[in-house]
Amino acid sequence: MLSRVILLSALTAVAFSCDTVWPNGTDKALTWFPSCAGAITFYSLSTQDQSGKAEYPITLTKPLVIITDINNPKNVYESPNLKQTINLWSWGGLGACQWSTVPTLGLLSNLDACTNGVPCPVKTGRQTLPITMDFTGYDSIIKLLKDDSPYQLEMVLNDNKTKDKTCVIAQARTYTKVH
Ligand SMILES: *[C@@H]1O[C@H](CO)[C@@H](O)[C@H](O)[C@H]1NC(C)=O
Ligand SMILES: *[C@@H]1O[C@H](CO)[C@@H](O)[C@H](O)[C@H]1NC(C)=O
Repeated sequence: MLSRVILLSALTAVAFSCDTVWPNGTDKALTWFPSCAGAITFYSLSTQDQSGKAEYPITLTKPLVIITDINNPKNVYESPNLKQTINLWSWGGLGACQWSTVPTLGLLSNLDACTNGVPCPVKTGRQTLPITMDFTGYDSIIKLLKDDSPYQLEMVLNDNKTKDKTCVIAQARTYTKVH
């Protein structure tokens, strides 16, 4: 009897573990959405490797290219005024299916966007803007992260000249080890 109860509890724990839940269908495909009421409109967002091949799951052990289709209505953005901050969250833990901040010790805060993957100047109008995210310099952080798991990445762009802000979140199944 006792062993049955234990078995049942063990099964329940597995069923409710966040390891078995991929938020927003990230096991199959990328999800993205704007995360502030920014100046730029995003129409689509997809991921590629550096050779232009579609990449999913994404991998943080090599540079990742995020292809965005955007409309930039008013202002041209350029170095050194355009600042980029990348925020990163991991998913879950036992019994807590939620995003938890991955502390990056400020390494990814307030960088010059134009020398960190954003092709500048960002001109006005509808355009395809490929943004490169390169975490290879942060392998001491990346290697500690669980492999083949959901991660949430937010890119925040602040232009200190116009005070325009742009933010977008992508949620993806992510490799943190070489596959
Ligand atoms: C799933 O995506 C929607 C936007 O499409 C977002 O509002 C929601 O917070 C996401 N869920 C999780 C668990 O992140
Ligand atoms: C914006 O930041 C750059 C680089 O730190 C600086 O040179 C510039 O003066 C700043 N501009 C404004 C309007 O604060």
